Amino acid sequence: MTVSSIEAAWDRIAALGARADARQINTLFYDDPNRVERMRVSLDDLTIDLSKTSISPDVREALFDLARVSDLDGFRRRLFAGGEVNNTEARAAMHMAHRAAPGEVLMAGDEDATAFAWERRERMRLFVRDVHGGTLRGATGLPFTTVLSIGIGGSDLGPSMVTEALTMAEGERLEARFLSNVDGTAFVRETRGLDPARTLILVASKSFTTAETAANAHVARKWIVDALGEDAVGAHFVALSTNLHATNEFGILRERVFGFRNWVGGRFSLWSPVGLVIALAAGWDQFDRLLAGAHAMDRHFAEADLEQNLPVLMALAGIWHVNGLGSTAHCVLPYDDRLRRFPAFLQQLEMESNGKGVTREGAPVKRMTCPVIFGEPGTNAQHSFMQMIHQGPAVIPVDFILAHFAMSHRADAHRMLSANAIAQAEALLCGKTAVQAEMEMLQTGMDPVQAAFLAPHRAFPGDRPSIFISMEHLDAYGIGRLIALYEHKVAVQGHLWDVNSFDQWGVEFGKALATGILAELSGDRVYDHDPSTSALIATLHDV
Ligand code: F6P
Repeated sequence: MTVSSIEAAWDRIAALGARADARQINTLFYDDPNRVERMRVSLDDLTIDLSKTSISPDVREALFDLARVSDLDGFRRRLFAGGEVNNTEARAAMHMAHRAAPGEVLMAGDEDATAFAWERRERMRLFVRDVHGGTLRGATGLPFTTVLSIGIGGSDLGPSMVTEALTMAEGERLEARFLSNVDGTAFVRETRGLDPARTLILVASKSFTTAETAANAHVARKWIVDALGEDAVGAHFVALSTNLHATNEFGILRERVFGFRNWVGGRFSLWSPVGLVIALAAGWDQFDRLLAGAHAMDRHFAEADLEQNLPVLMALAGIWHVNGLGSTAHCVLPYDDRLRRFPAFLQQLEMESNGKGVTREGAPVKRMTCPVIFGEPGTNAQHSFMQMIHQGPAVIPVDFILAHFAMSHRADAHRMLSANAIAQAEALLCGKTAVQAEMEMLQTGMDPVQAAFLAPHRAFPGDRPSIFISMEHLDAYGIGRLIALYEHKVAVQGHLWDVNSFDQWGVEFGKALATGILAELSGDRVYDHDPSTSALIATLHDV
């Protein structure tokens, strides 16, 4: 691997992207009658269909050339060997240990990460069993019926997204509420109708220093103390954190703290004790299946040839779209309402991981990195922003996610969802010329002048890329596998872009400034600011 061979591989991708035919997709099907079979890759029932992208055989070769000269194989090995892939924080990224199979050994530096993770998993299982069985109760002796999970970012987005997905159809063992934003109305909303005596409160914070979580945890503590007295805190609070000193200071009993290690990044932490709320709400078996699904993807990513490797293919397709074709946005559409928060989860996963402007060694990056990730569940998205994706001048690649079978009993509704997902992908690919649109209108008997006027408005350019991800069931196993697919996609892209996907220094600056401004808004001190900021502070001062 030499710098010049890597740069040559990037240049080739850019050159292919600059060709006049770089965006053509429909012609690729004529060139290769077996394109669909060639561009569909599966792991068991999970299939990724890349045929509706403009990845031609030349582009494919160039992308795999980049993977080879960048030593993607070596990166995979270092990741799973617990090497310091997070170089700015001198840590491994070993969240995979929390979903490892029995007997498997994964190291994080010198630590047997799997032994640690299995011990944690067993403690979590026993805790969940005792809460569900009613042997662990609130301070007044009542069983817990609700769990309030307090956390933000990775300590909220993954757990809340998965909990919702796993309980929407099946129902909840414990009703789960999630409090993330430091906004008084959020607290009011999330505690409305709750009985403190029956509410278990989880404070999920890797660092246990996050200001929003600390503020919300203190409000929740007061809520418990006001209703049940100071002595109730021990019975009602649980902490999920790497910072045992801070959890102790907050007053959470040692046996109610589920610690984890800093080789689990916040946005990769739903598999660790941070996922306790999932198990409490959806049941231990579901949580176990979730981990099993993610583990299946880990093994696939670690072992499959690059050419057949789903996270690698997803990552390379993204590289083509960003660095070959210049896309700055990427849309994710789960055709499953249970995954309605999946795009929000992916926003943190992808943008906090790869939204970086310097390389691992600190030099400015030479090319674009992470696109803007956005999405909504289908079909809702069709009735809001899909207009732009079909007809706007910007070409925005889309990931469609669809299960073959419904998780509800409404097979008819699922058929409608499926038809819409397939139709959207077809419309993006095939488009419709103005002539076709005009002919269709004329056939309905429309006035020819009106038809000619409307034709360009009702034409679709087509040749718009999408990736179709499908699987039999989006059950706990399927969801675990899907999340891990994207996690590894992100790691592969970070490696190829040469950025550290596992740190998040970009969020620190604003946090530090907020601390000073908070003091000013409370009237304590005055700092130097730019004139615009000073004006805002003056407006809000003493409000
Ligand atoms: O916003 C930055 C961040 O550090 C995220 O990476 C993290 O998921 C979130 O804050 C919450 O952090 P913690 O779990 O330490 O409270």
